[in-house]
Parts: sequence; structure tokens; C-alpha cells
Amino acid sequence: MKPAEIASWISDAQKAFSAAKDLDSLKIARLAHTGDKAPISLASRGLGSLSPDEKASAGKLIGDAKAEIAKALATATEKLESERDSKVLLEEVVDITLPVQRTHRGGLHPISIIKNEISDFFIEQGYAVEEGPELESGWLNFDALNIPADHPARTMQDTFFIEPIESGVVLRTHTSPVQIRTMLTQEPPIYVICPGRTFRADELDATHSPVFHQVEGLVVDKGITMAHLKGTLDNFARHMFGPDVTTRLRPSFFPFTEPSAEVDVFFNGRWIEWGGCGMVNPKVLATCGIDTEVYTGFAFGMGLERTLMVRHGITDMHDIVEGDLRFTRQFGVGL
Ligand code: PHE
Repeated sequence: MKPAEIASWISDAQKAFSAAKDLDSLKIARLAHTGDKAPISLASRGLGSLSPDEKASAGKLIGDAKAEIAKALATATEKLESERDSKVLLEEVVDITLPVQRTHRGGLHPISIIKNEISDFFIEQGYAVEEGPELESGWLNFDALNIPADHPARTMQDTFFIEPIESGVVLRTHTSPVQIRTMLTQEPPIYVICPGRTFRADELDATHSPVFHQVEGLVVDKGITMAHLKGTLDNFARHMFGPDVTTRLRPSFFPFTEPSAEVDVFFNGRWIEWGGCGMVNPKVLATCGIDTEVYTGFAFGMGLERTLMVRHGITDMHDIVEGDLRFTRQFGVGL
């Protein structure tokens, strides 16, 4: 075991390590130059057979050589690992300036949003939500509500009649027939709201649409008075327009309520017509088989488009019906 021989093991190892192009080839070089069968390992194992003197000097030579080889290995490992790391950073780089693929989740139309908002408000107070058909029998839409065929109120509401005319079927002109359907099938106490789509032969303009929405409220119970109606409308108005708004009732006429009133809300410094209301006409209760000696009731109805327009300062009905996303987006997330 000559010093020159040992020096050549060191330089062979150094050359092999620095020649390795990546960590895999470095591993092969490491096994060849430091593994069990590497010349330095064999020499190390051969020390045992030497005399104590020889062992001391050869042991030092071999120990130093091992340290040199280990140093060369550490240098090569460090270099190749940092090369690998920067390569990974380059290959897996994320360009955060690239435009993302936006998927549109869709969202509710403002009319649906306000309908849900109103339903939630009344459900919290124990009301049920009832829905009736949009194609309605003339009897439920008019007659049962005390609007006979020759009544001027029928011309107040320009009706879409369904052919054949003798069928008596109409596109409902208001949500009030759902009151009748409810009273015919349920016993008081009745606390319901009926939101839904309604139809009148109007031209589409800034404030009218032939297809629109109403929400009807109906309460029938013992001892119901106009004070309950007023309190309910006040609460409802504050929920829709803010805690400071007040309502006022103006005498009016509807065949199905007696007395009847228009309900106005004081919003943004002025009185705004919001809907109709009144005590359910005893004739209507009687038609539905409800004992008018025991029960009284109130009803109210307002337009959802109108409520939305007033609350959000929308000045043109076209914005609500045309479905332009630039309008709809202002009311919600996810579009
Ligand atoms: N149905 C009436 C309308 O469409 C509104 C209303 C509902 C009035 C309930 C009084 C009570 O004009």
C-alpha cells in the first residue's frame, strides 16, 4: 500500500465525483469509490493483518484519504442538489400573470332574490308559502273574490283569456286566487304568503310589464283586526326598505277586501305606493266555507318588480325583464 497508490484512489474518486452529471450518476460513482468493494475500503479492511507499527502509519494515510474522498463527495453532492433545485424551480414555475379560466357559476335573478328574501322573512314568523297555478280558473281569479262577470274590476285588470274562451281559463291577473285555494283547502288559523308570476295585457314600458310578480299575504284567525294588518305591513316595510320607514294606509277599494286600503311607504323622503290591502271581505270568507262569526282576516298584495325598483332606484322595467347580466350582476355573487 504505497502513498502514491492511495493518492491515485483519491484523485480517481475526485474525478469521478466531479464528472457526475446528476445525482443518479453521483450515486454510482459514490458506490464505486466508497462502497464495500472500493480500493480504499478493501485497504481499510486489510489494516488488521499489518503489524502495529505499519498499522499506525497506514491507518493515518487511509484515514486522511477517506476524509479527502468524503470532502469531494460532499462538494459534488451540494453542487448537484442545488442544480436540481433550480431546475425544479424553473420547470414548475407558475406564471401568476396568466389569465385564469373563469367559469360562470350562475346566479339568481334579482326578482328571485327578493322573492326568497320575502319568503324567508314571513317563514320566520310562522307563515307558510303557498303557490298556485299560473293558468287559473276564472272562478278562482274573479268570482270567488267577489269580482262577478259584469264587475268593473274585471276591466281594471286586462286579462289574458285562454282559448277556447268557454273553458273559463285565464292567465291569473293577481296572486289573490291562491288565497281562495288556501281557504278552500285549509282550516283557520291561516298564515300564508303567496309569491308568484302574474299576467296582464299591458305593453312593456318603463313601469309596466305584461308578465310580472306579486306577493300576497293572507291571515285568517280569531280576532284579527286592521291593527294586525298595519303592524304586519310596518314590519314588512322595515324589513324591505330599512328600519326607519313607516307606512300609511289610504282608503281604497277592492271587491275582495272590506274595508280596503292602498299601502304607501315613506322611503327616501317621499310617499311611495307599494300595494293594496284590507280586511278579507266576509263574502269571500263565506264562499270558502269559513264561519264569519268566528273568524276575520286580512290580506295584502304588492308587486315584486315595484318593490325592487323602489328599493334600488331602478327607473326602467326593461332592466328587470331583459336579463342583461350587467344589470343582474349588481345584485349578487357568482355570475
Ligand atoms: N290583488 C290585488 C291587485 O292585484 C292586490 C290586493 C291583494 C289587494 C290583497 C288587497 C288585498 O291589485
